Formats: sequence, C-alpha cells, structure tokens
Amino acid sequence: MLRLGVNIDHVATVRNARGSAYPDPVRAAKLAEEAGADGITAHLREDRRHIADADIDALMEALSVPLNFEMAATDEMQAIALRHKPHAVCIVPEKREERTTEGGLEVAREENKLAHFIAPLRDAGCRVSIFIAADEAQIEAANRIGAQVIELHTGAYCDFHAEGRFEERDAELARLTNMASFAHALGLEVHAGHGLTYETVQPIAAQPEVMELNIGHFLIGESIFRGLAPAIEEMRRLMDDARA
Ligand code: PXP
Repeated sequence: MLRLGVNIDHVATVRNARGSAYPDPVRAAKLAEEAGADGITAHLREDRRHIADADIDALMEALSVPLNFEMAATDEMQAIALRHKPHAVCIVPEKREERTTEGGLEVAREENKLAHFIAPLRDAGCRVSIFIAADEAQIEAANRIGAQVIELHTGAYCDFHAEGRFEERDAELARLTNMASFAHALGLEVHAGHGLTYETVQPIAAQPEVMELNIGHFLIGESIFRGLAPAIEEMRRLMDDARA
C-alpha cells in the first residue's frame, strides 16, 4: 500500500505568524491521523521558523502513527533525533535564506561525512531517509552510506506543471520514474514528496516502487477551504485511484 505522510509544518507557520499558541500542529496531526494519514512529518529547521522543539516533544507524546522527523545534517539536530528516536529521520539540505527545501541533498560529495552522521541514527533504530534529486549518482551514494530509504524530490516536476512547462515536466517525471526503479533495484525503499497537489500527485502515486508520499503545504492550504480531514481524504482517494 502507498502510505501518506502528512507534513504539518505550515500549521506552525500560521501559528508563528502571530506568536500565538494556535493553530496547534499537534491537534492538526491528530486530526490527520483520524483522516487516514499513515504518518506525520515535521521539519525542525535550524531557525525554528515553523516547528519548534516543544512541538517535537508533544508529537512524540501524542502520535499513534510514526513520526518522520526531517532535519539538516547538523550536530544539534542529530542530538535531538537521538533523544527522541523517531520512527524515521529524513535528512534534508537546509539553507537559511531559502523559503523551502529547494534541492536534494548533495550526498555524492559528502559521502564520508554523511555515512558517519547517519550511523548513530541507524543504531538508535531510526529508519534513515535521504532527500535527493532523481539522480543516479546521488542514489548510489545514498545506498553506499547505508541509508534505508531515499525520498525523491518532486519539487521541480511540480513547478514545471504549475508553470505550464509540460515538456520539461514530463521529462522530470520520466527521470523520477526511472530513478524510483533504479533505487528500488538497489534495495532502497523509495518515498517521494515536495510540492505535490491534487493535480500532480497521481503520476507519482502510480509508480509501483514508491511506498510513501510526504505532502504538506498544499494540504494545509486546501484545508482552509474544505477542512483538514476532507482535504486529506481527497488526497488519499487520488493516491489510491492512481495506484489501482
Ligand atoms: N518531503 C520533504 C523531504 C520535505 O522537505 C518537504 C517539505 O518540508 C516535503 C516532503 C513536503 O513538501 P510540501 O510541503 O511542499 O508538500
């Protein structure tokens, strides 16, 4: 079955816009669980612009489904992950000035450093996922450093779609499809995410090697119009239809 991980970062973005205690990302996560999310994803950024340390504490306490903890490869984040031991840790690149995670992780150039970085996380029982572009060299490097999972960055595919650049979108989709098969053949579990919407999710969900999609920004935005549970249920339906 194709799993849906709901990213609740942007509930915290709205909360932090006013420095209030609401809307509460943990409440959103519980609601997402009830609406059929198979996991919850949260990204604790270095600058704490959305999710805060206390949110991670509260999510670990409250969730019945697995937490996928997204983090940069820093000593601070590694210590936090080792304290909580979430089900999964997804290593993402992080630049202070970026609005969102813009590209995949450069694994091939940082192979040694990353291998040492993820070893204690694996030893602690976390499933380690690496967020990368659909690129053979990066996938091979992720495999060599001992990651169990790769998450393919669907951002470029979604951006091309939104901009009406359909030839480029289809080329990127072909790359994602080929690289999902390539990674699967190496024995890696394949996830995908970033920028996915109702319009873009189905070709990705249709890939039989893809086991999990992590979706946040669109769902939180859509929940303004239809409510969080119906927004998630519609995404689930589209994913299941594409898979069938
Ligand atoms: N997967 C990863 C690794 C991410 O960094 C993000 C964004 O935090 C997502 C998935 C979800 O992307 P979006 O919020 O655009 O759906």
